[in-house]
Amino acid sequence: MPEPIAPFITLPSLPDDVPGAPCAMVVFGASGDLTKRKLVPALFNLACEGLLPDGFALLGFARTPLNEEKFRGAMTESIKRYGTRQFNAAVWEKFVQRLFYQQHEYDDPASYTALKAQLQKLDRDCGTQGNHIFYLSTPPGFFPTIIENLGAAGLNLEERGKFSRVVIEKPFGRDLASAVKLNEIVYQQFQEHQVFRIDHYLGKETVQNILVFRFANGIFEPIWNRRYVDHVQITVAETIGIEGRGSYYETAGVLRDMIQNHIFHLLAYIAMEPPIDINATKVRDEEVKLLDAVQRMRPEQVPVRAVRGQYGEATVDDRWLPSYREEKGVAADSQVETFAALKLYIDNWRWAGVPFYLRSGKCLPERRAEIAIQFNRAPLQLFRHQEVKQLSPNLLEMRLQPDEGISLRFETKKPGTKIRMQTVDMQFDYTRSFDTNYSTGYETLLHDCMTGDSTLFARADMVETAWKVIQPIQEVWQNTAAEFPNYPGGTWGPIEANHLLQRDGRGWLQG
Ligand code: BG6
Repeated sequence: MPEPIAPFITLPSLPDDVPGAPCAMVVFGASGDLTKRKLVPALFNLACEGLLPDGFALLGFARTPLNEEKFRGAMTESIKRYGTRQFNAAVWEKFVQRLFYQQHEYDDPASYTALKAQLQKLDRDCGTQGNHIFYLSTPPGFFPTIIENLGAAGLNLEERGKFSRVVIEKPFGRDLASAVKLNEIVYQQFQEHQVFRIDHYLGKETVQNILVFRFANGIFEPIWNRRYVDHVQITVAETIGIEGRGSYYETAGVLRDMIQNHIFHLLAYIAMEPPIDINATKVRDEEVKLLDAVQRMRPEQVPVRAVRGQYGEATVDDRWLPSYREEKGVAADSQVETFAALKLYIDNWRWAGVPFYLRSGKCLPERRAEIAIQFNRAPLQLFRHQEVKQLSPNLLEMRLQPDEGISLRFETKKPGTKIRMQTVDMQFDYTRSFDTNYSTGYETLLHDCMTGDSTLFARADMVETAWKVIQPIQEVWQNTAAEFPNYPGGTWGPIEANHLLQRDGRGWLQG
């Protein structure tokens, strides 16, 4: 008897949310901003949700002279400022007892011997069971030395079922060669399943929702291709400048700081093929395939398809804003870009010929992160004898920030005897539909580290492939001087960013 054809395929179900595995998390660079603004609030949120294991300890490792008491005091102060939910004193009292601190040098082997001893003590006293997560949140120059010292102290080893994982903050390298080199150093001490290259954009609900939206609904996938999509826009705009991070930003620029990582993840999620399963291997295989299909620009294409900008001084709402070059730690003749817009093509059967316009910048008029998919217009203006000026194309917008939601734009008939049209938006708003506590964006990622799920983390080949796309642009920009500053703070970047779309008969949705 032939098997009946199943209308639905059901994959095995997964367990509900459970606390992560017992572990000690060592945060290198714990006296820095990330720990107090994001990591501790996120771990505390997990504790409030019952998702932090009972056997847990956070051990701060940094150069700043602090003791345990002061560290705990500082975190208690900062949770009130950076916590994202109502403060729960009872949970905090228990949580703060699990925070520890040691002052150390990153390049001193003796520091790692002391670290090992402290971890053994925590494993005994706090029930962390020999599982260790090493979170690298220092300036990137220290990553190699920390990784090598962890290896030399044997802290990279996974024996008798214990885990040793390393979390690496961005930027992962500053170009292809340095990323390859860093991956080599990592691989001398750790295996890929132990490595979690973190990108906080993948912790955002709406970013994860891209996968659900695309692959848990039947109606979108059939039109998600070159036959129906006119173009795609991805905008990540920030109103802030560089906020005292001049010396870092001078080595970065928006291409490295936002596009190579955060925005390329968005691009991969929005454009990749459906994976055959939602797990770390299958999802990331598709992401790499997609990034690999992004057309690399030839040098002569760079001036036509890539625009760079740097903000100049401006007065916004009666407030004077300094130019980038006037920021602390920035060279007076800096050539670093604070804005970039790119037109990319993806050379595969799904997307050939569809432009993907990407832009990101500092000191823009709005804080806004969104992906917009513009569909082809209706083929015929059937209503041409009525009072119809022009049909608007359908537009699907996925908003990541500041409010999270999805909207679909379409034409409707205005009430009345004549056919008059109006463009309307059908809205889905996260906060109206769900009763959610605001999160820091790090909760899912930290929990995934504890459970060993690296789906939402960048794999070595993804990072390198992303650099391969960026590299030709970097090279041309490094070799040709830009006339900076070229946009006043509080505007949507240089005028050339508008020309990039106008030349194609299109326009940015804002600006
Ligand atoms: C960081 C960049 O990775 O992301 C910053 O280094 C940027 O320059 C920040 O401001 C933006 O993150 P978010 O979540 O505020 O959009």
